[in-house]
Amino acid sequence: MIDKNDKLDITIVGAGVIGCAVAYELGRCGAAVRVLESRDVGLGATQASAGVLAPYIEAHHPGPLRALGLRSLDMYDAFVADVVADSGKVVPYERTGTLEVATDDASLTRLEQTRQGLASAGVACRMLSQTEARVAEPHLGESVRGALLLPSQGFVGAAALTAALRRAGARHGVSFLTSHAASRLSVADGEIEIETAQGTVTSDAVVLAAGSWTGRVAVAGGAPLPVRPVRGQLLRLLWPGTRLARVIWSSLCYVVPWHDGSVLVGATVEEVGFDEGATVAGVTSLLDGVGNLLPATRDAGFDEVRVGLRPGTPDDLPIVGWSSAVPHLVYATGHYRNGVLLAPLTARLVADLVLDGRIDPLLEAVAPGRFDAS
Ligand code: GLY
Repeated sequence: MIDKNDKLDITIVGAGVIGCAVAYELGRCGAAVRVLESRDVGLGATQASAGVLAPYIEAHHPGPLRALGLRSLDMYDAFVADVVADSGKVVPYERTGTLEVATDDASLTRLEQTRQGLASAGVACRMLSQTEARVAEPHLGESVRGALLLPSQGFVGAAALTAALRRAGARHGVSFLTSHAASRLSVADGEIEIETAQGTVTSDAVVLAAGSWTGRVAVAGGAPLPVRPVRGQLLRLLWPGTRLARVIWSSLCYVVPWHDGSVLVGATVEEVGFDEGATVAGVTSLLDGVGNLLPATRDAGFDEVRVGLRPGTPDDLPIVGWSSAVPHLVYATGHYRNGVLLAPLTARLVADLVLDGRIDPLLEAVAPGRFDAS
């Protein structure tokens, strides 16, 4: 926590869903907030996110990632309601559940183990036989062997949410400076200086939320964090049949049904550095996967392929908290596959930390200090 009698002046570096959520939360709590973004809002991992909110799928076993995901999912109804009210924008958001589909013996066994673990923890879920799965979702192909229905999960429009966060933040006085790349942070006279091509900005605190590009911002006195880009290609198809009832997930791909008649099909996971290009191999693998899962997609229209770079970390956990090496610097990065899911919680954890000095027990697992002198 930074002690100051006046309004705290905070700069967020990065305007993906995490940077925008943190900016909105700090802005509505009364801080003076500016966001610096090297390109435009929501162009990193966020623009290629299908917006699936599925902590039980992203973390098949209990642990810090599942705990973070569940806390954040619990916040989602209120978070979206607040952002919609403050922005006046529509944010597509549904909690119609997920159907995780097994197409072979090994995944069927794993799903049954997951069901047992969830049932013993009191989580509502149901294992469906092949016939039951195809009744629940008639578009499923014959490759389906069984499926786990989890009614509490859902999805949100990531781009719409980020745009609404920007507008809502602006209503609380947050300024967004796009095409402003931060190149270096350093501490001087109890403040933190941020160098950009347009000049140096000074703040009481900086929240570094630059996702895959975190390491491109030099931090005087701090070691670079091990955040790396992990490419995801995502397809938007024009769905030809009756709307799918919910998110369908399998080891081949996942599919998110939207009210406008489109589906998003994701996503590749590729270690190719900062290459944001789409590839024939990536698109083909997704089309093959979804064609096998939902044969009707063979008649779908092909609208577009989106590409994003997820910020991966060595332990697949985000990095959230005060820098252990550099005063006035907070990290909110490395959310890998879960930036959209974890946005409400990350925003709250950062606001509590910076404005009130409150250290949530969940922060222990995601502390920057676990990576040397960060
Ligand atoms: N959250 C799913 C993905 O990153 O592909």
